[in-house]
Amino acid sequence: MRRKVIAGNWKMNKDIHETANLIVELMDRMKDFKNQVDVIICPPYTSLVVAKSLIKDFPIKLGAQNMSQYDDGAYTGEISVTMLTAIGCQYVILGHSERRQYFKETDDLINSKVKKALSAGLTPIVCIGETLEEREAGVTDKIITTQIKGVLRELSSSEVEKIIIAYEPVWAIGTGKNATPEQANQVHKLIRKLIGQLYSWALAEKILIQYGGSMNAENAASLLSQSDIDGGLIGGASLKSDAFVTIIQAGVESPTH
Ligand code: PGA
Repeated sequence: MRRKVIAGNWKMNKDIHETANLIVELMDRMKDFKNQVDVIICPPYTSLVVAKSLIKDFPIKLGAQNMSQYDDGAYTGEISVTMLTAIGCQYVILGHSERRQYFKETDDLINSKVKKALSAGLTPIVCIGETLEEREAGVTDKIITTQIKGVLRELSSSEVEKIIIAYEPVWAIGTGKNATPEQANQVHKLIRKLIGQLYSWALAEKILIQYGGSMNAENAASLLSQSDIDGGLIGGASLKSDAFVTIIQAGVESPTH
């Protein structure tokens, strides 16, 4: 049985004051939930400390949106894995399509960050997904296969077991155009099949695969009820407590697989 994971990727939004307000609202709206799904928030680096202090006795977990592949040293502007674990982060989003597009991150670089995160006990949420041109050219499966092999290169089965994969079709991110539940589930099944072929069918059954790309309060229930969708990585809709909590509720009510 795979437990659902609902994660909010706040991107470059919310200063420390806005962070505190949103978390207080979230905790208030979530107070009757009984810990049935894992809830993660990923605010900007500058908000991590204040976020951690507010959620410390509450079942919301903390994640960062990126980190360096290096341990420490002269890398101006970068944040290391131990800086994140020292705050109490348990998750880190790696290889988001915005990092790939605007900051030229490659599967190779993402792979080295995944290894670094795992070595420090941080759970990587590793993003993959095709662009609109790739989908229209009919090469979605090929792109997903290349990305999976690239980001998981040289990882053992016990390491891959600790990873969450987020399938985020690039054409659906921030566009209001989500993949249909069936379209998304088809790619999730492909990812599971690849994990089965590369590692084992037992691991394929266990690994958590989130969907991301314009998931919102209206479409969450139908996406989360799909057989191979184990949660959501939510951008825009995670910035409003009512929408995010409706999505969490949809996760609680959706069937487990
Ligand atoms: P969106 O972003 O929900 O705003 O489409 C999802 C993401 O980029 O993780």
